[in-house]
Amino acid sequence: MSTAQELQTTINDLVQPDKGILAADESAPTIAKRFSAIGVQSTEDSRREYRSLIFSTPDLGDHISGVILFEETLAQLSLDNIPIPKLLETQGIVPGIKVDAGKGPLVNAPGDEITYGLDGLASRLERYKALGARFAKWRSVFHVSDTLPSHQAVEANAEVLARYAAECQELGIVPIVEPEVLIDGNHSIERTAEVSENVLFKVFGALHRHRVRFEWMVLKPSMVTPGKGAEKASPEQIATATLRVFRRTVPASVPGIMFLSGGQTPEESTANLNAINSIGPQPWALSFSYGRALQEPAQKAWAGERSNGEKAQAALKKRAHLNGLARSGRYSP
Ligand code: 13P
Repeated sequence: MSTAQELQTTINDLVQPDKGILAADESAPTIAKRFSAIGVQSTEDSRREYRSLIFSTPDLGDHISGVILFEETLAQLSLDNIPIPKLLETQGIVPGIKVDAGKGPLVNAPGDEITYGLDGLASRLERYKALGARFAKWRSVFHVSDTLPSHQAVEANAEVLARYAAECQELGIVPIVEPEVLIDGNHSIERTAEVSENVLFKVFGALHRHRVRFEWMVLKPSMVTPGKGAEKASPEQIATATLRVFRRTVPASVPGIMFLSGGQTPEESTANLNAINSIGPQPWALSFSYGRALQEPAQKAWAGERSNGEKAQAALKKRAHLNGLARSGRYSP
């Protein structure tokens, strides 16, 4: 297959009616935090057991088109000794991989962060591709206050997102471009909208500058919501604000916008996605790429006990099904 065919096939497989992406790419410290909340110690074995269990959920592929893996999982065997990427493919699910190397302070920009991981990226991508990864993910974050994010944080993160995306496409790997405007803080929905509009405008400018083909990427943004500490907005208010910003900034040639859940509860993120899909038509598919919002109920049901396996799988299946309905505005709480 040519690189163009690889990219188009992966887009067709990822962006499908009634389906979204499962983000299971928590880094070692993040999964340790999630496991500690359910009283489980995070070890290579416990991570393998949990992830193997959820990826084996019967018919998971009905509503999940792709799974984002952490590097460790990409090379792991399931409990039945099947390579995890192969297990996903047999479920009709595309395996993907988180490739950024985390984030840290941006020098001379107090309060802002920059994402690392461009050095050596091409050779890592080649290795991940050989292990079965067909798409990748890179996350940049933007803190929000009256003054944040700074101009240099927006420009610098947009630039690295674009350079990452260009390298992925060069190797036939679909890039998921994830600019997350963080929910932490007391800011209003109007302030989130203002920051999101600016961030997306700069990100697409950088993608254009680096000649990234919009047809062969997926955008993974945050929804436009008020800060966590501010008064909540209704799903309709969130949908209206989100779509207003996206219609101004996201080219119609982008095939899919797949939201992160970013600290919303499972129920909120489903209701908000449903509201977004109740206004239309829009030029892009609007779906989910949730981590916590898909996995939290499954993790609670599992609680580290193999005997709870079926309950955990049922909990994941339920969230995937409901989000599959929200993907076309057919969910009712
Ligand atoms: P959440 O849905 O938990 O925000 O995770 C999505 C993700 O992949 C963050 O990078």
